[in-house]
Amino acid sequence: MRLDKFLADAGLGTRTEVKALIKKRRITINGETASGPEKKIEPGLDKVAFDGEAIGYQEHFYYMLNKPAGVVSVTEDKSCRTVLDILEAPFKKKLFPVGRLDKDTEGLLLITDDGVLAHEILSPRKHVGKVYYARIQGRVEKEDIEAFKAGLDLGEDVVALPAELTVLKEGEVSEIELLIYEGKYHQVKRMFEAVGKKVLYLKRLSMGSLKLDETLLPGESRPLTEKELKELKDREK
Ligand code: URA
Repeated sequence: MRLDKFLADAGLGTRTEVKALIKKRRITINGETASGPEKKIEPGLDKVAFDGEAIGYQEHFYYMLNKPAGVVSVTEDKSCRTVLDILEAPFKKKLFPVGRLDKDTEGLLLITDDGVLAHEILSPRKHVGKVYYARIQGRVEKEDIEAFKAGLDLGEDVVALPAELTVLKEGEVSEIELLIYEGKYHQVKRMFEAVGKKVLYLKRLSMGSLKLDETLLPGESRPLTEKELKELKDREK
């Protein structure tokens, strides 16, 4: 593999940026200053270092963010903080969120530079399950559970796939969990609107096999563990 590709994949910068680092003699291969970006290296065998720090090879990066309310699920926005602004990651240029959560929605967001996995997870044909926790204005009744199970008419010729609604707490404000297999725009809010109810608070708990790490406070993030990544890739194949 070319040295510049290795360094860019490792997250050190764009191809142009890593070429500049090589030119500044800040990269070594097996202890020798690297001569040029085209230099061939064997990932895993050759020891590549930046300012003396060993660089491990990783083709893609995967982070779990507990998205807080008030940030938008895009890579750039002039007027609002984005999920990338708050992500704790050394190099963010190629990263993007897998799908979107509304600005006021909290919870699990996967952020990666792996377009193939993102496609697998988002593809409507794959029916990847997503679990949400929500607080709903009013009582969620048995009929609502049945209606969600049957597939709700969201208007404008859109019918939601059957969804599993579980009431966690009954009351004037109900607490529920909802399992859905698609990700239409404002999906959960529109489903509740279809039964005449309003979502007061919404949080995503899981996506496929990936579960929100509840030790992450809103706004905190961490790389996926190898186990989480393996399970996600295996299931979404
Ligand atoms: N459904 C919604 O209505 N909003 C979200 O952010 C996610 C699912």
